Amino acid sequence: MNGKTAIVTGASSGIGEATAARLAKAGYKVYGTSRRGARGERSFAMLALDVTSDNSVEAAVAEVMRRDGRIDLLVNNAGFTVAPAGAEESSIEQSQSIFDTNFFGVVRMTRRWSGRWDAYTPSSLAWPPSLARLLESWPRRA
Ligand SMILES: NC(=O)c1ccc[n+]([C@@H]2O[C@H](COP(=O)([O-])OP(=O)(O)OC[C@H]3O[C@@H](n4cnc5c(N)ncnc54)[C@H](OP(=O)(O)O)[C@@H]3O)[C@@H](O)[C@H]2O)c1
Repeated sequence: MNGKTAIVTGASSGIGEATAARLAKAGYKVYGTSRRGARGERSFAMLALDVTSDNSVEAAVAEVMRRDGRIDLLVNNAGFTVAPAGAEESSIEQSQSIFDTNFFGVVRMTRRWSGRWDAYTPSSLAWPPSLARLLESWPRRA
């Protein structure tokens, strides 16, 4: 243990799961999160968290603070991509949904964690979610 605590959102699969496991191996006390919460054996703890919900964000961050009293590293990984063909085949609801998770989810977590949306420091905040797939395919005309 290095005495530091990390939250990795979207740690039930993919990049988030691998990042959380790597941080745990490096000595962080890691709280992975996902909407599904704890499932199966992992080298890090899992908490239920939906980044589209202010109340869920509040509850998860409060739980980590209650347990450890600190959050040294926040990895804002939770997110998804739109329909395979891109923006032109996605509904407005799908497009709004990706912004609510991939963009405003990051805003919610970062604000709750730091009290400030602009508190970016390279060593303490990571932000992989991508809106690129939505934006790069818009517009795409022959
Ligand atoms: N894979 C790529 O090539 C690629 C490229 C660029 C950017 N990215 C970004 O990297 C991130 C991870 O990608 P991935 O391929 O590893 O995806 P993934 O395997 O589908 O994992 C996404 C994670 O986000 C969680 N999640 C989704 N919606 C959530 C919500 N509303 N609240 C909380 N957690 C939520 C999922 O858990 P639950 O479903 O259990 O909530 C899951 O743990 C995404 O943000 C993606 O946009 C990926």
